[in-house]
Amino acid sequence: MIKSLSSAFVSLALTASLANAYWLMGAQNTITTERIDPIVNPGVIAGHVHSGMFTADIIVGGSNFRFSSTTKFLRESQCTSVPIVEVSIYSNYWYPHLYFHAADGTFKSLNGGVVIQPNTPDYLFDNKPGTVTAFPDDFRMFSGDPNLRSYNASSYAQQAVSFLCLDFDNSQGGTTKHAELPLNKKCPSGVRSQINFPSCWDGKNVDSPSHTTHTAFPSGGPDSGKCSDPKYPFTLPRIFMEIYWDTNSGVDYSKAKNPAQPFVFAQGDATGYGFHADFFNGWDKGVLQKAVDGCTCNIYGDLTCCAEKGIFTKKKDGTHCRITPAIDERTTGVLNALPGGNKVTGLNQKPSPAIDSAPPKLILPVFAYEGDKPTQTGTVQK
Ligand SMILES: *[C@@H]1O[C@H](CO)[C@@H](O)[C@H](O)[C@H]1NC(C)=O
Repeated sequence: MIKSLSSAFVSLALTASLANAYWLMGAQNTITTERIDPIVNPGVIAGHVHSGMFTADIIVGGSNFRFSSTTKFLRESQCTSVPIVEVSIYSNYWYPHLYFHAADGTFKSLNGGVVIQPNTPDYLFDNKPGTVTAFPDDFRMFSGDPNLRSYNASSYAQQAVSFLCLDFDNSQGGTTKHAELPLNKKCPSGVRSQINFPSCWDGKNVDSPSHTTHTAFPSGGPDSGKCSDPKYPFTLPRIFMEIYWDTNSGVDYSKAKNPAQPFVFAQGDATGYGFHADFFNGWDKGVLQKAVDGCTCNIYGDLTCCAEKGIFTKKKDGTHCRITPAIDERTTGVLNALPGGNKVTGLNQKPSPAIDSAPPKLILPVFAYEGDKPTQTGTVQK
């Protein structure tokens, strides 16, 4: 299973990146699954559940994914879920969790994200050194729109989101690509949500009110063309995330509320058009610049060649970097409602994010750990 996943992954990644050099960070763990969003909802409990994935490098211990963030704070993290050692790679990436919506009204979280390797994020960039600008400190960005429930094929922002119905053994004629969560189709090897971040930048702002307008997609769409708009002249490394969901284990389509498409993203999106992701930069600018200028040696995205050039140091294996919960709320397993009470909406329906009338309590402080269990846990705040 794992083997076939990786080979399919490599070939698909290759097709997506013909003209580019790239590397795969291969996050090996989800550090937490909570309603925390230091970009869109800094300082407060977020409207929906994200799987917080810490892509950083090793040092020891914890990971500073919290209610609010800065690049400096991220670099003080103790551990990471990507197989790189350097202290300078402490970025955060996050995206909504996916649930099976049962006819009895319950929601069951799917195995996904980083449970099966390999995983994202991928960094893609031009082979020619000097063409890509590293992210500045405190840079953050957002891709996708959680409120979308319809598809506009001419929108680059919507083209940036896609799904693969995975079929590694060719039992249904092979893997297919979709703009939405695959309809009327069981995907034999699971579903992969994919998202491109914008890769052009205004060169001035590290954020913008919508978290999107300081960046733009290139001239040809999310994964092609140039940063030719004079308002966005700087080319950033293109971050592409591929998130694998096990849509088969423990999933009984005959018990689904909607057997044609039984899955729902945490913000209540039953279409997939509202899939989105956040990036908070933790990179040391110099290290990232060296990487995008020099790590052009392996077309398979393997970090080994970057390591051999002294740009990264690879960890032997991924640690299991996690943090203790900051919110007293269950977000995985079988739930009676989506966290925060978000209502499910389908094609062309108006999204209906819930007002959290009784927000859960906080558990503080948060501890990082790498074993099976934390040695310390925080206390619930009254
Ligand atoms: C679809 O997207 C294009 C490009 O962004 C935009 O110009 C157009 O207004 C959109 N159409 C609708 C119906 O929103």
